[in-house]
Amino acid sequence: MSQAEQCIELARQAMSKAYVPYSNFQVGAVIETAEGELFSGCNVENASYPEGTCAEAGAIAAMVMGGGQRIKQIYVMGAGELLVSPCGGCRQRIREFSDGLTLIHICSPEKGIRKTLSMDQLLPYSFGPSNLL
Ligand code: THU
Repeated sequence: MSQAEQCIELARQAMSKAYVPYSNFQVGAVIETAEGELFSGCNVENASYPEGTCAEAGAIAAMVMGGGQRIKQIYVMGAGELLVSPCGGCRQRIREFSDGLTLIHICSPEKGIRKTLSMDQLLPYSFGPSNLL
């Protein structure tokens, strides 16, 4: 199994763990760090709706907890006809640990990777840590 296929399978598994009693919309995310480590996350909703968290946020938290700091690529997986592309807030969350060439793979369980974008394409003219230095 290729590295990409492994990440897609991990994203399927992450998606299946989603806690989504309100939207019933499962999302899984898998990060490959610059060091080649893999970290997963799923969306976790809450009865107080705005407190729910996205799959990308879960994967980023797992990465930081595991000592990772740089995202080489991230796989985001959801179902449906339309692309499940990271929400605006998650674009900024991913940006924090990315460079312009970081890859965002938008995936579905059936098709695998449907579209790949660079961070610069997904969030052009972004504000990041270097703005504060
Ligand atoms: N969701 C994600 O987990 N990631 C995204 O990038 C888009 C949306 C989740 C949030 C919520 O639990 C559900 O999908 C429906 O919006």
